[in-house]
Amino acid sequence: MQPQFLKFCRLTPEIVKNAAEKFGTPFYLYDENTIVEKCRQVLAMPNAFGLTVHYAMKANPGKALLQLITAQGLNVDTSSLNEARRAFLAGIPYDRMILTTQEIPFGQDRTDLEKYIHAGLTYNVCSKRQLLLIADYAAAENVPLSMRIHPGVGSGESASRNTGDKYSSFGVHLTNIPEVLDTANARGIVINRVHVHIGSGGDPVTWRENIDRELMFLEKYFPDAETVNFGGGFKEARMPDEDAADIQALGEYATQRILEFYQRTGRKLHMEVEPGTFIVANAGFLVTRVLDKKRTGKDGFNFIILDAGMEANTRPLMYGSRHPFYVVSKDGQLLSHESEKRKNSDAFVLVGKCCESGDSQCLTKNGEIAPRLLTEPQLDDYVIIGGTGAYCSAMSPYNYNSHPQYTEVILRRNGDVQVIRKPQTMEQIVQNELPLEISQTNSTNKRQKINASYPIF
Ligand code: LLP
Repeated sequence: MQPQFLKFCRLTPEIVKNAAEKFGTPFYLYDENTIVEKCRQVLAMPNAFGLTVHYAMKANPGKALLQLITAQGLNVDTSSLNEARRAFLAGIPYDRMILTTQEIPFGQDRTDLEKYIHAGLTYNVCSKRQLLLIADYAAAENVPLSMRIHPGVGSGESASRNTGDKYSSFGVHLTNIPEVLDTANARGIVINRVHVHIGSGGDPVTWRENIDRELMFLEKYFPDAETVNFGGGFKEARMPDEDAADIQALGEYATQRILEFYQRTGRKLHMEVEPGTFIVANAGFLVTRVLDKKRTGKDGFNFIILDAGMEANTRPLMYGSRHPFYVVSKDGQLLSHESEKRKNSDAFVLVGKCCESGDSQCLTKNGEIAPRLLTEPQLDDYVIIGGTGAYCSAMSPYNYNSHPQYTEVILRRNGDVQVIRKPQTMEQIVQNELPLEISQTNSTNKRQKINASYPIF
C-alpha cells in the first residue's frame, strides 16, 4: 500500500540502487513529479479574486528547484537579502519575490534593497525600525509596502515553530499597529498588503481562524490594502499516521470570508500564500548506506549506523521530527516500507556518523531515543529517509565533523536522474581559512610576546 504522501512519487528501489552506485551515498534525491503535482495543487486553491503563491525558498533554496517551481507559476518568498540575491542568480526577477526578514539593512545591503525594490521586489516590513529605514526611499519613489503583523496567536508543529504567539518576535505586534501606521501615514507611505505567518506545520484549525483574525484587523486598520497574505505553514504528513492540512478546504473558507469582506466593504482582496514544506517535503529522500551495527547490552538498543545523519537531516535532533524509513537491499529489493511493516520487523535506532550522541534519526521532542520498527538491513544496504525535501539540505549543520555538503540529484519526469548540486570538496570546506602567521622573532622574544598578550593573567 502506497501512503498518500507518496502518491505522485516515481521513485523505485531500482532507481535508488542505480543512483547510489553511480553517485555514491549519501545523497539527496528529489522527485520532480511530486514537486510539479504539489505546485499544481496549491495553485488550484480556491480563491475569490485571484491567488499568488510564493514558494518559501528557505525550505530548499537550490537553483534547479527554484527554476522548476517558478516554472510552474509560483513566485518566491525570500527571508533574507541573500535569499533574494540567490533567487535572482537562479534567474528569477525581483518582481517575483517578496522579502520578509528580521534583517535591518545598512550600507551596501540598504543600497541593494532599494535596487531590488525598484526592480519590483515586494518589501514586507516587519518592524517600525525597518519601516523607518526605508521610509524616505518608499515615499520618494511612491512605492507601496507590505506589512507583517504579529497576530498574538499562532500554531506550529512544535513550540519553536509557532511564529504567532508571544514567544516569537516576528512582525509588528497587533497592539503596535496604530503607532506604526501613524509613522507610515506621516511619511505618506501606503501599506497595500497585509501579511501574517502563524507558524510551520501547526493546527489547520488555527490556520483557518487566522483568516478571520487577519481580515478583521485588515478591515480595521488598513484601508489601502489590496492583498491579504496568509503566510505558509500548511501541515504536511510525512508519516502514514499523520494528517496533512486540507488546502482545498482552507481555500474554500478563505474564499467565503474574502467574499463576505467584499460585500461589507466593496474591496476585492487578492489572496497570497507562501508554503515551503507543502511543496517540497515529501518530494525529497535522503539515500544513505548502512556502515555498521551495534547493540548496547541486553537492555540496550539495536543501533544501525548510517553514512549520513544529523549533518544531512537535523530535524529529529532539533524538533523530534519523525521521518519515514525505507530499506532497500544492495541488490535493489525493497525490504521495508514505512506503511507496511514486514513480519520480521524489529526495533532499531538509526544513527549517523557524527561524534554526537544526538546524531540520531530516532528521537522524541524531549531528546529521548524512540526505536523504530523495520526489517533489519544488512551492511551496505540502503536506508532511505523520506520527507527530507524541506529544511534538510537547507538547514543542515554541514561541515560538522568536517563532513561535506552532499550531492543532490533529481528524478526527472522522463526517468532520468540528474545531478543538481555536486558534493562539496575538501578544498571547498577549507577554502576561506587562512594559516596562522609564523612570527619571525627568536624563541625568547616569542615567549615574551605570548606573555605580553595575556596581561590580565
Ligand atoms: N513564510 C514565512 C514568513 C515563514 O517564516 C515560513 C517558514 C514560511 C512561509 C514557510 O513555512 P512552511 O510552509 O515551510 O511551513 N525548519 C522548520 C520550519 C520553520 C520554517 C520557518 N519559516 C521545519 O523543519 O519544520
